[in-house]
Amino acid sequence: MLAKTVSSALSHLRIQGCGICLRKRFSIVPSGQKNLPTRYLGQPSPFTHPHLLKTGEVTPGLTQMEYALRRHKLLSLIHKEAPEPCDHAVVLLSHPTYYMTNDIPFPFHQNTNFLYLCGFQEPDSILLLRSIPGKSLPSHKAILFVPRRNQSRELWDGPRSGVDGAVALTGVDEAYSTEEFRQYVQKFKDEGCTVWYDSEAVVHPGLHSEYMQPLVDIKAQSERAVQPVRTLVQHLRLLKSDSEIGLMKMAAKITSEAFVSTIVSSTAPVDESYLYAKFDFECRARGADLLAYPPVIAGGNRSNTLHYVKNNQMIKDGEMVLLDGGCECSGYVSDVTRVWPINGSFTGPQSELYQAVLDVQKSCLSLCTPTLSLENIYAFMLTALGQKLKDLGILQQHSKELDTYKAVRKYCPHHVGHYLGMDVHDTPDISRSVALQPGMVVTIEPGIYIPEDDISAPPRLRGIGIRIEDDVLITEEAPVILSADCPKELFELEQIWGRH
Ligand code: GLY
Ligand code: MN
Ligand code: MN
Repeated sequence: MLAKTVSSALSHLRIQGCGICLRKRFSIVPSGQKNLPTRYLGQPSPFTHPHLLKTGEVTPGLTQMEYALRRHKLLSLIHKEAPEPCDHAVVLLSHPTYYMTNDIPFPFHQNTNFLYLCGFQEPDSILLLRSIPGKSLPSHKAILFVPRRNQSRELWDGPRSGVDGAVALTGVDEAYSTEEFRQYVQKFKDEGCTVWYDSEAVVHPGLHSEYMQPLVDIKAQSERAVQPVRTLVQHLRLLKSDSEIGLMKMAAKITSEAFVSTIVSSTAPVDESYLYAKFDFECRARGADLLAYPPVIAGGNRSNTLHYVKNNQMIKDGEMVLLDGGCECSGYVSDVTRVWPINGSFTGPQSELYQAVLDVQKSCLSLCTPTLSLENIYAFMLTALGQKLKDLGILQQHSKELDTYKAVRKYCPHHVGHYLGMDVHDTPDISRSVALQPGMVVTIEPGIYIPEDDISAPPRLRGIGIRIEDDVLITEEAPVILSADCPKELFELEQIWGRH
């Protein structure tokens, strides 16, 4: 029901050309950036980092206009959900700083829904989208609450944007210091205001307990309980704009090149941690901000442990390595898996199993077209893998349908793929049964995993685990494989290894 409402609201936006009128409004000079402070902010700005951002951009590749359009679309969706006249307040919290040990922060990583709507990269911040009295949605005011400037804290943590920097960089209408949010919360307690906030998925425990939990409790006793906003934001995030696609292409290209360099540098015996360091270096040296997730670098039988992230064992001559890795570029990620023989030559059984998975993966890729869903492609994958298990002698040719299904689920316990975007497992509330549409990005990653102690599998195949994963942009025409520069044919992998 929600999906239908959302997609009709989005098509309304396209048809009515709301994006176009916003574009006109911002086409000359994004208003706020004329006043961009010349000092360092809490994140790169076009003034301090001209090698990363153009004028008008809030984060590399994404303009004030694009962020404003996202907020505008969100308020349009909310208007569809709640068309009767009333006040609305949409609240999103940033992440806090997390500490590895006393006083030593982990590198900060922003909450992606918050980041999607404003591009602000500091912790302990709040985004408020407030309806305007007398005007109907999607008209609204965007207000950021940000850490106040503080000389002694900035001595330790580095510069903060402050309220002037936050307004000038992001183009929101107003900014205040985080503590000033308290007065706003008081106003939202008013019966007439509908608050949109994710009280079930707390992203900043401190700000939640101080400001939002009391508000959620009061609203629960009124006619207007707090409404979740996360799924609405995910519906927007599901369809990527041209600039988002550009950033995802960059992340996938950097990852593909990093794979090639890592393959070239791998000779037996090699420590998994060496390949981890190599892959990480090759991604960041090419401009990635960081790895998108702890990569899996699994030699030999360890490739059968799906979430193997210890990456601390030696890979021996004759074994293969499975590397599942990706990087993040300006908030957008890649997620790629390749398997190759660490001594540069596939053995007979390794190439048999590898080719079987590759055939299935290519067939699944060709199904990444509008109208089919990830769930449809998964059903196809199960059937195709079932046939491969029979061809490989892992299953009897005449196994019954149910036995085949059980065997496929045993040898490939995961789905064919997931949505990809700012998060690796992106937009997780969106069902995989939704028909694919141009602008979506998904992964396709079938696998077959045969543990070394699986006595029901043919001995020659035991201890081999294969997954082949690419990132795919859905278009009206053929799917675009964003990670196409990452080799995956048997002969290509052997040839590339031979370059070292
Ligand atoms: N790297 C996590 C996944 O492939 O889903
Ligand atoms: Mn994946
Ligand atoms: Mn992966």
